[in-house]
Amino acid sequence: MRVNKVLVTGANGQLGWELQQAAKVNSNFEFIFLDRNAMDLSNPNDLLKTVESYAPSAIINTAAYTAVDKAETEKALAHTINAEAVAELATIAKNKQIPFITFSTDYVFSGNAAIPYVTDTQLAPINYYGKTKADGEQMALAANPDSIIIRTSWVFSSHGNNFVKTMIRLMKERDSLNIVGDQQGRPTYAKDLASASIQILNTLNQGVSVKGIYHYANTGETTWFDFAQKIKELAGLDCNLTPINSDQFPAPAKRPNYSVLDTQKIEKELNLNIPHWETALKDCIEKLATA
Ligand SMILES: NC(=O)c1ccc[n+]([C@@H]2O[C@H](COP(=O)([O-])OP(=O)(O)OC[C@H]3O[C@@H](n4cnc5c(N)ncnc54)[C@H](OP(=O)(O)O)[C@@H]3O)[C@@H](O)[C@H]2O)c1
Repeated sequence: MRVNKVLVTGANGQLGWELQQAAKVNSNFEFIFLDRNAMDLSNPNDLLKTVESYAPSAIINTAAYTAVDKAETEKALAHTINAEAVAELATIAKNKQIPFITFSTDYVFSGNAAIPYVTDTQLAPINYYGKTKADGEQMALAANPDSIIIRTSWVFSSHGNNFVKTMIRLMKERDSLNIVGDQQGRPTYAKDLASASIQILNTLNQGVSVKGIYHYANTGETTWFDFAQKIKELAGLDCNLTPINSDQFPAPAKRPNYSVLDTQKIEKELNLNIPHWETALKDCIEKLATA
């Protein structure tokens, strides 16, 4: 079936909002954006009714339980949203024979690697959020092998809650900040991820098969400390930044030390030219400055 009407969950999240911006200038598809009130993933049994009321020809699930630390104690809810609901959407898409795109995370991996994670690296999450996302991937693929799962990492946007906006706020409020310097990863601009997601729909409409697991992140690797340094420089802020180790910044959920995703598969299959994270960050900070 040709994709023309696209149902998007999680409309007010970083990625959902960036898809809304992209939709304003994309005339290839009709988008239906549903926020948590319009489509609540904590009630998987209600999802079929909502999907049928819109009769979409593709589903993009950007909604997720993303509170990594809170997931350690709110386990049942996190699992329902990130695993059971994802499996239900995958099943609905299979039965309707429509494409289903959903998103996962670098946190499905252990963080012990020394080279970038390829898509078939063994899953070994070290926190409960990572486990819910890993379960969601596996349950979605078991229910519907045509599911398209995009793992991403360190997502930021001019909209919503993220490291970039938090750093800018804190650097304005304080003279000095300690930032974790021993975790390495690839930041991802939700705007670029939104445009890659639309590229998947275009590719499907060209009759090209896209299915299974992909990795998407902006190019270039960094640490949270170096990311913060760049934010400070691009935003023109004055604050003393000091690198610290993860064990000096205790949090309820453990974070992987090495989180670098290998994105070659999506680059090749979709013929994508992924921007460097510094280019993306500059765009984001310019948007924030003019907001
Ligand atoms: N953020 C990251 O750094 C990161 C890293 C790796 C992977 N990812 C994955 O990338 C995808 C997009 O993430 P994001 O950064 O756009 O997340 P986000 O900004 O936290 O947005 C998540 C959205 O999901 C919605 N949501 C939460 N519970 C819901 C429920 N029960 N029913 C319906 N909607 C619900 C939230 O609604 P409210 O607005 O009402 O709260 C929010 O709009 C997710 O799959 C996430 O796991 C994110």
